[in-house]
Amino acid sequence: AQAPVTVTVTGAAGQIGYALLFRVASGQLLGPDTPVRLRLLEIPQAVQAAEGTAMELDDCAFPLLTGVDVTDDTRRAFDGVNVALLVGARPRTKGMERGDLLEANGGIFKPQGEAINAGAADDVRVLVVGNPANTNALIAQAHAPDVPAERFTAMTRLDHNRALSQLAAKSGASVADITKLTIWGNHSATQYPDIFHAEIAGKSAADLVGDRQWLADEFIPTVAKRGAAIIEARGASSAASAANAAIDHVHDWAHGTPDGDWTSAGVISDGSYGVPEGLISSFPVVSRGGRFEIVQGLELNDFSRERIDASVQELQEERDAVAALGLV
Ligand code: NAI
Repeated sequence: AQAPVTVTVTGAAGQIGYALLFRVASGQLLGPDTPVRLRLLEIPQAVQAAEGTAMELDDCAFPLLTGVDVTDDTRRAFDGVNVALLVGARPRTKGMERGDLLEANGGIFKPQGEAINAGAADDVRVLVVGNPANTNALIAQAHAPDVPAERFTAMTRLDHNRALSQLAAKSGASVADITKLTIWGNHSATQYPDIFHAEIAGKSAADLVGDRQWLADEFIPTVAKRGAAIIEARGASSAASAANAAIDHVHDWAHGTPDGDWTSAGVISDGSYGVPEGLISSFPVVSRGGRFEIVQGLELNDFSRERIDASVQELQEERDAVAALGLV
């Protein structure tokens, strides 16, 4: 039998953690042949709640789950980790300035990057979900100099899936018929969901929709503000859909993207499409041989260029702010 893969989930007692852990343990993250060992990291006040979740995981009797450890010790949590799902983060509270938010999250993602550097397995893959996801990923990556930078990624798959669903609803197509959609930039309100290379059953999505007004005034803001709309409706932020996107992201990273399609992920820039090197920005990516590669050679019209630049500008400002705090 295959050796168990160690999956560490931070913020395990939170709402995304609760929606995520059972799917990881049931085999949906890494496939039906891969046993999983779970490590749940929480802050001391939430360890007891995480232990409760661990009891429920036991009670599912998942055949693939070989063990669950709960800890508030960062080093222990990442010792030997193969897949790190960094979900726990410091939320913005009322009246909090962006600088304070970045600094508080630096206090979380710096030690986690250091612990990954010190103890992770050679093949470690890191997905940052906790917001601000791109910049938190950058902070963790900056403190893990011995881990290839490409192993640190930020989640924009929820935005990608939201865009698929909106485009399907507008066009009357099934999400399964839509390919080559892209989320560019930051996982924030400035993100740019791009349909200019997308296809619906092999035909240009932009031509089929043929409605720039809808694109600019409905599609883009609906996708970008979907998180706020969920909070408004549900009284709590997206959790099951965020967990689902994390599963999709890691599953595709490990198993590959289908031929003739790509997905979106926040990955470290190599300068592609004019995105400054070293920023963790969302790009169109394919996954081959266990690696994400940025899709090359796409032509960007002025409409797209302007929006990508604005979101990348925001990422640059976030990087400057954390650099000023000595966090990168
Ligand atoms: P939540 O507040 O329900 O849970 C967060 C958990 O993280 C809490 O249990 C807390 O104790 C824990 N935590 C805080 N600091 C920690 C640390 N240093 N180590 C370990 N655990 C720690 O929040 P929820 O709804 O689960 O969301 C988690 C994060 O995911 C938030 O930052 C949220 O903004 C983000 N998010 C990102 C999305 C994306 O698309 N990238 C989508 C939805 C949410």
